[in-house]
Amino acid sequence: MPGTPLSSSARLSRRTALRGVAVAGTVGLGLTACSPEDGGSAAAPSVPVDLGSAEDVPKGGAKLYNDENVVVSRAEDGTYKAFSTVCTHAGCPIRMLKGTELTCNCHGSKFDATTGKVLHEPATVPLTELKAKAEGGKLIVSP
Ligand code: FES
Repeated sequence: MPGTPLSSSARLSRRTALRGVAVAGTVGLGLTACSPEDGGSAAAPSVPVDLGSAEDVPKGGAKLYNDENVVVSRAEDGTYKAFSTVCTHAGCPIRMLKGTELTCNCHGSKFDATTGKVLHEPATVPLTELKAKAEGGKLIVSP
């Protein structure tokens, strides 16, 4: 009946439903909260990129190129491997490299910079591999 006040149980269930919407909205925001200011929203190269001297990547080690969102590793035999450092969990740019282990600051995922494989969740998908080659002493990475 129009204009009839809601019973206390009806008000309670309506309030509970509204609270549920508010919580769901907060959770939704939490999952998409990465932004450029807090290290989120990144893109890997979509065209070939010159990363400078190929010798900058140590044999048996790796180097992070933050501006390009790329990590390059170099095996003892001199072979280069490159991966996008856009985290496969929620898209944050990965900014921490210790040895050959990458860590995403957003939620703590870890990756192997020599294989792209996940070392620690929440990410479950390996990093995207890119092509890497040394040309005239320069390191070129492309999609
Ligand atoms: S975006 Fe969540 S761990 Fe990297």
